[in-house]
Amino acid sequence: MARPRFGLIGTGFIGRTHAIALSAVGAVFGERYAPVCELLADHSAEAAQRGARTLGFARATADWRELVRDPAIDVVDICTPNHLHREMALAAIAAGKHVYCEKPLANTAREAREIVTAADAAGVRHMMGFNYICNPLLRVAREMIAAGELGEPYAFRGHYLEDYMSDPAVPWSWRCDRALAGSGALADLGSHLVNLGHFLLGDIARVLGSLQTVHATRRDPASGTQRGVENEDIARALVEFTRGVPGSFEVSRVATGFKCGLAFAIFGTKGALEFDHERMNELRWYDAGAKPGRGGFRTILAGPEHPDYRPFCPAPGHGLGYNDLKVIEVRNVIRAIAGDAPAWPDFHEGARVQRVMEAIEQSHATRAWTEVGS
Ligand SMILES: NC(=O)c1ccc[n+]([C@@H]2O[C@H](COP(=O)([O-])OP(=O)(O)OC[C@H]3O[C@@H](n4cnc5c(N)ncnc54)[C@H](O)[C@@H]3O)[C@@H](O)[C@H]2O)c1
Repeated sequence: MARPRFGLIGTGFIGRTHAIALSAVGAVFGERYAPVCELLADHSAEAAQRGARTLGFARATADWRELVRDPAIDVVDICTPNHLHREMALAAIAAGKHVYCEKPLANTAREAREIVTAADAAGVRHMMGFNYICNPLLRVAREMIAAGELGEPYAFRGHYLEDYMSDPAVPWSWRCDRALAGSGALADLGSHLVNLGHFLLGDIARVLGSLQTVHATRRDPASGTQRGVENEDIARALVEFTRGVPGSFEVSRVATGFKCGLAFAIFGTKGALEFDHERMNELRWYDAGAKPGRGGFRTILAGPEHPDYRPFCPAPGHGLGYNDLKVIEVRNVIRAIAGDAPAWPDFHEGARVQRVMEAIEQSHATRAWTEVGS
């Protein structure tokens, strides 16, 4: 396979993470997975040129449409605010490019369906940025569940708690604007938690949701006046997985003290698993079959026996970090493009996640259990 040539759009928080991963992936996983960092787009020529220089891209442009049309680009990598995903993904698909898009895929389930339909019709590869499930220990958790090591799972409890908007003095941003961000904590954090639930236990059939906005206005840096927050700070939901397992979800961007609290517990007839991303190199396992007096959670520490850990480090317990998950994800993107492995999480998964989030919003409005639908 020729080295895939990437065009990256956006160099904010996650754009930089993608760029770091694109430059590291060949060193970690081998030459076969080394991409070409060809073209970088940002909102201004100056930002794009600075980004290209510091992030190792050959060329820069202030016009993302130019990037999408460029014949030297094979993969369009979308790292811009949520409302731009649809337009950029559709343009890239129309130009016959493979697309790698940050979460959420779009702002509504309808938009997400439109993107999936276009991508499938064009026959391009598509992948989502749901990096947390690339954690080697979450692969272990999934394998343990599938192998019956927990017995029959009967309950799931998940949360994703952060406090980046806990302080009411945090200014208004695009994340507070319905048209730019879609939902609030749901789109930003809930998308990851729903994807994690899908990864571990499969699809979600129905939800009972509840939303809460704690800080109704924030100071708009552009005008200096208070501006309305148009989406939720906290979302909660009871969920029912298609396989019959009930669960509870809670996501919050105002969870004071929590920084990256993406966590779950799964309870089964033979044991339980517990995980918290703030301690991402530890998976806790309770074996209900232990001898009386010898029970208790024990910690499985990440190490080279676990999938995708060894290429980073041959030594156990040294640990991976957040950026390493993106390196694994970028390897998965390049592997899918090469046809070496199926693409997952693809845009179908992005759209499925969107439907769950929309069902939670609908359920909040109607105060009733809501089917996720297909
Ligand atoms: N997977 C994750 O862990 C994760 C983490 C953070 C953000 N995200 C997602 O990444 C996306 C971006 O979030 P962020 O935190 O990086 O935002 P950000 O505001 O930090 O960065 C956005 C970038 O997009 C650029 N941009 C905006 N409009 C543009 C345009 N018209 N043309 C070209 N560039 C443009 C901005 O200049 C900036 O470089 C969001 O969809 C968010 O949900 C994912």
